[in-house]
Amino acid sequence: MSAPQAEPVTHIDDDRFRVTEWRFAPGAETGWHVHGHDYVVVPLSDGQMGLVGPDGKQAQAQLKQGIPYSRRTGVAHNVSNIGETPFSFLEIEVVENELEQKRLDVMRRFSAAWNAHDLETIMEMTADDCAFHASAGTEAEGARHVGREAVRAAYAGIFAVFPDGQWTNGKAMISGDTGLTWWRFVGTTVEGKKVEVDGCDILTFAGEKIAVKDSYRKARS
Ligand code: NI
Repeated sequence: MSAPQAEPVTHIDDDRFRVTEWRFAPGAETGWHVHGHDYVVVPLSDGQMGLVGPDGKQAQAQLKQGIPYSRRTGVAHNVSNIGETPFSFLEIEVVENELEQKRLDVMRRFSAAWNAHDLETIMEMTADDCAFHASAGTEAEGARHVGREAVRAAYAGIFAVFPDGQWTNGKAMISGDTGLTWWRFVGTTVEGKKVEVDGCDILTFAGEKIAVKDSYRKARS
């Protein structure tokens, strides 16, 4: 006979949080699952929880009403009620990370496409409504290139000036709609002038596409 199922009740399910109340009758279990998000558990009652992990061994944990604990993405287990009374807890998952992780992946592929001088792939990752603010120019923002054709032409111009240009030691981070990449640019102009300079891009996302690339670099003297 299989164990009864723990009962999930969804309280919140939006683009930032998923809050699920899990109710366990004695002997009930969740079934095997892998957590796809960071999460916090808040016990709503005391209870005796059984946990079976990937090694197949049964462990125990005491739930204390109102005493929370947190875990990271990737936890895999089957959770059961091994006590004689029902218990329940709130599981609060941070789901906003999902979009941020996708955007981080876009930024990594965007950097790779720049180093490959792959203009088609760069433009695939660029929003329809887009702009590129260059690191130099007459305007406060640097030279502004607005719209896909202008942005494409400006990017093509960079590859034309620096046929060997590379953005080395690239790093990336994301917070909400704003991504930051920083790197050391190394390249030689068609006239043979070698350039090596640190810089960064502040990227503004629209969904999973890059809407604005705002470039900065050190002024070497
Ligand atoms: Ni779990």
